[in-house]
Amino acid sequence: MVGGATALYGGMEALGLFASPAEAATDFQPPRAADLPDSARGRRTKVVVLGAGTAGLTAAYELGKAGYDCHVLEARDRPGGRAKTIRRGDRLTDTDGVTQVCRFDDGLYFNAGPARIPNHHVTLDYCRELGVEIEALVNANAESLYYHENTSTTDYGPLASTPVTHRQAKADVYGYVSELLAQAADQGALAAVLSSDDVDRLVSFAESLGGLTGGRYVGNSRRGYVDAPGAGHDAGVVGTPPSMSAVLQSEFGTRFAFEFGFDQAMMMWQPVGGMDRISAALADAVGGRRRITYEAPVTQISNTGDGVRVSYRSNGRVRTIEADYCISTIPPMVLKDIPSNFSQATKDALTVPTAANTGKIGLQYGRRWWEEDDKIFGGITATNMDISGIWYPSSGFLGRKGVVVGYYSGAYTDLSVPERAARAVAQGVKIHGTKYRDELDTSFSVAWPKEPYSLGGWVSWPGGRGAAYDHLLRPDGNVYFAGDHLSYLIAWQAGAFESARQVVTDLHQRVAATAA
Ligand code: FAD
Ligand code: ALA
Repeated sequence: MVGGATALYGGMEALGLFASPAEAATDFQPPRAADLPDSARGRRTKVVVLGAGTAGLTAAYELGKAGYDCHVLEARDRPGGRAKTIRRGDRLTDTDGVTQVCRFDDGLYFNAGPARIPNHHVTLDYCRELGVEIEALVNANAESLYYHENTSTTDYGPLASTPVTHRQAKADVYGYVSELLAQAADQGALAAVLSSDDVDRLVSFAESLGGLTGGRYVGNSRRGYVDAPGAGHDAGVVGTPPSMSAVLQSEFGTRFAFEFGFDQAMMMWQPVGGMDRISAALADAVGGRRRITYEAPVTQISNTGDGVRVSYRSNGRVRTIEADYCISTIPPMVLKDIPSNFSQATKDALTVPTAANTGKIGLQYGRRWWEEDDKIFGGITATNMDISGIWYPSSGFLGRKGVVVGYYSGAYTDLSVPERAARAVAQGVKIHGTKYRDELDTSFSVAWPKEPYSLGGWVSWPGGRGAAYDHLLRPDGNVYFAGDHLSYLIAWQAGAFESARQVVTDLHQRVAATAA
């Protein structure tokens, strides 16, 4: 029976009836010493890896499985790169020289970079392999809110500047759209494209999707109650929906497609305790400080003919390390300004990708009012204001304090640190009222274009992945390049994992071929 079910599934997959997320991942085989001829096994190939972010650590980890002698140079004082979790005592100095120190309570944190992991990303396979515990990340929540305020060009109608739950918006939008669909079908508007049986099926679907009563949307408990039901004769009171025109004018329906995204649909995940738990586990698996030198910014990279030489600063001195190969995972915005003897084509290619402007703020509150008052347990409120959204924490439920992400936006990069908090809080007050300001303990913001050694959140390839992208997929002499920018998973750790795997495979094949 199991065989039959598997065969059926496989057949349906082949027909394209199921999309198979697993197909997105590469078919990776970790390198093995046994793949190498004896001559290469005896003489351990030395690889210097630049950057202890996801890609660099993965490269060192996977090559280590085959006995390569890897050493990682990292400019920051910790592993993870952009996978940065901010906790009490963390200190960041940006490229303007402005320093922030995190004053969150012990045990509280926020993920200033990556925060969510979809089911199908290879990231979860590494969590499994490395023993990193995960928990659900609430990416969509019926109780989170939509809030649209009028702009100089758009009037959102009667629902402008009114927080509306995802639950209510969905019931009303699907309700009215279903009513229109059912009416159109009933009135013969679809007769040219549907048989009468299919018209009937479509009407049944519309009645179910919209929760229609006699073909009309009149509101129902799906949208929530204005007076909740209780014991005895307390049946509760369902509110009356706004008019169809008001619901359409609110444009809340344009928000729904977010959770249809391949990479944004529930279930989603986060490591327990912070995203940097993955890179911490990787760093341990690589060999910790035995194999990683922190606070070691690379200052020069040279191909020497039969190997590589890399200079870096450490404890006030310039040092060099020599190796057979190098894997650079330094983001292109940073790498393009590091002196090297790369070919002109490589230097030119490194200037092509442009940096994404993005940032986040963590707001610590003395009380989890979003849970206590508003019954919001995780999820994201979406708005057309420039904070773009408010993320409620997906950990520490029912606890006393918590950290809310108060913006995820590039609009705050050029503001001072206090201005960022003030502007984000002023927008949150419009949605949640004055407690959003009054109950704030402390905040911490990260502007990725101003983060040394990142200089941007991620990259775009103007005009698409063209010749420069292709060029960087190949080594320059003995120097390979990896990172999420060299993948179709930009802005996802999975891109860094997959890119590192590809470079590891290429390098291992070359070593095997060279030594043969
Ligand atoms: P990096 O992490 O940038 O690693 C490069 C390393 O090189 C860094 O450690 C850096 O310090 C080091 N370095 C730089 N210069 C030097 C030098 N001169 N010498 C030595 N070392 C140097 N991904 C997800 O999976 N889920 C998400 O929800 C998600 N959201 C994101 C949100 C934001 C705001 C941002 C910024 C990113 C997000 N990402 C997300 C993407 C994820 O962070 C990246 O894809 C991933 O961390 C990239 O890893 P990397 O190793 O390629 O690069
Ligand atoms: N992958 C990033 C996120 O989901 C952009 O926030």
